[in-house]
Amino acid sequence: MRVAIIGSGPAGFYAAEALLKRPDVRVDVDLFDRLPTPFGLVRGGVAPDHQKIKAVTRVFTSTAGRPTFRFFGNVQLGRDVTVEDLRRHYHQIVFATGNETDRRLGIPGEGVWRCTPATVFVGWYNGHPDYRQARFDFSVRRVAVVGNGNVAVDVARILLRTRAELERTDIAAHALEALRESQVREVFMLGRRGPAQAAFTPPELRELGKLEAADPIVDPADLEGLADPEPGGNVEILREFAARRPRPDAKRLHFRFLVSPTEVLADAEGGVAGLVLERNRLERKPDGGLVARGTGATEVLDVGMVLPAVGYAADRIPGVPYDEKARIVANEDGRVVDPATRAVVPDAYVVGWARSGPQGLIGEHKKASAQVVAHMVADSAGVDARPLPPREAIDDLLRARGVRFVSFDDWRRLDEVEVARGARRGAPRDKVVDVDAMLEILGKAP
Ligand SMILES: Cc1cc2nc3c(=O)[nH]c(=O)nc-3n(C[C@H](O)[C@H](O)[C@H](O)COP(=O)(O)OP(=O)(O)OC[C@H]3O[C@@H](n4cnc5c(N)ncnc54)[C@H](O)[C@@H]3O)c2cc1C
Ligand SMILES: NC(=O)c1ccc[n+]([C@@H]2O[C@H](COP(=O)([O-])OP(=O)(O)OC[C@H]3O[C@@H](n4cnc5c(N)ncnc54)[C@H](OP(=O)(O)O)[C@@H]3O)[C@@H](O)[C@H]2O)c1
Repeated sequence: MRVAIIGSGPAGFYAAEALLKRPDVRVDVDLFDRLPTPFGLVRGGVAPDHQKIKAVTRVFTSTAGRPTFRFFGNVQLGRDVTVEDLRRHYHQIVFATGNETDRRLGIPGEGVWRCTPATVFVGWYNGHPDYRQARFDFSVRRVAVVGNGNVAVDVARILLRTRAELERTDIAAHALEALRESQVREVFMLGRRGPAQAAFTPPELRELGKLEAADPIVDPADLEGLADPEPGGNVEILREFAARRPRPDAKRLHFRFLVSPTEVLADAEGGVAGLVLERNRLERKPDGGLVARGTGATEVLDVGMVLPAVGYAADRIPGVPYDEKARIVANEDGRVVDPATRAVVPDAYVVGWARSGPQGLIGEHKKASAQVVAHMVADSAGVDARPLPPREAIDDLLRARGVRFVSFDDWRRLDEVEVARGARRGAPRDKVVDVDAMLEILGKAP
């Protein structure tokens, strides 16, 4: 059978691998991505100073080498091809389009200059073409990062790294340049719940205590009375931070807990002048979980920039059933469904963050995508009886529409160019951040 997978992040690649190595079906896989570059958030999300994690791309590259696999970069579902096109050319379709938009705080002033979602900051420092035009003003000395997840940790870390630390990474050249002049001295990481409820993971938290020129600041009072059930867990690490004496000349990363932003204050020029915080207390829900409830007590945090890092959500794609509430592709266990009736949409599947929402690590997609592939195979009896146009007909269709799609070999060439450019500054790569420039390098510009 012939399968189209849309999205070349971890979930899409793991689905391709699971399909291609099944002994019971012979599958041709075409993997599409809207960018000319593969790997989704491994390239555009994972922090540039976390190169070891990016090594997973070797696994995906080996999948791309399988004989019945093809990559179509620079092809966007909903712009260059429709779901109907895919239905004509493939027996089954897998959406692996991730979560590419941000969740908002929904408070007054959120749109003012220098209040920018972490999704934009992350995309910008990682050289994602969508964000290459974003602008940041690092002349401010104090920044608030809202949220206690690993994205908040990434953002705080990148803000506090020295130029020498950043130079060794594959951070986008424009971000390296802008951060070189950074005046940021203090970052406040704001959790709406307490230290024991923080979503960041211990290895990521621990790393914040090892920055070359920044020290973590934790108020011991925030940890009073807390038991940390796990040795080596977040509370234990925070206790160790609280006991430290910060270096007098170091930049500072302040951990603040049980506070929620309620308003972003603007100055006369329309930029962030401060952040109003309401203190919270924890309240137990009937299901046993703990939620933050405002106490009415407020303070103004003196910051010149606010970066909310409160989660991602899936974009709506034309022709793809969308679950408004969960902000994912509507599905039951990876089978796409009509959001109103919950009836299964035949031969359409979803994997990764587009299926589950924005939680979980790269490695977790291996098993999860394989489970959905098992459904695909279970449902596949007879699907290949439907005659399709020849395999190359999709290439002709794209060419006829003027879509300049790129192959995996093209990507390999671009990869070599980026790695060679990076070597000049002692970095793993220097990314090309503009789609036209990528196509020009590949000889595919009009
Ligand atoms: C900032 C950040 C840092 C992270 N760091 C780590 C980390 O260090 N370690 C870790 O284990 N996990 C990390 N994660 C989590 C990890 O990145 C995700 O679990 C994983 O990438 C989700 O995989 P996915 O394939 O579902 O989505 P994605 O990786 O987002 O891939 C989706 C792909 O779909 C493509 N696409 C979207 N729409 C279309 C369309 N209409 N047509 C064609 N293509 C489309 C996109 O271009 C993209 O390539 C991080 C996440 C974030 C946000
Ligand atoms: N190095 C890594 O391994 C790495 C790096 C980055 C990301 N990731 C992974 O990627 C996934 C997504 O990370 P993430 O940080 O975006 O999400 P996350 O882990 O879900 O964290 C989101 C944070 O935002 C807070 N939040 C949500 N809405 C809020 C609001 N209205 N006001 C204030 N705070 C609010 C949440 O608080 P509550 O808990 O109170 O809801 C939580 O602290 C996670 O699985 C993460 O582990 C991993």
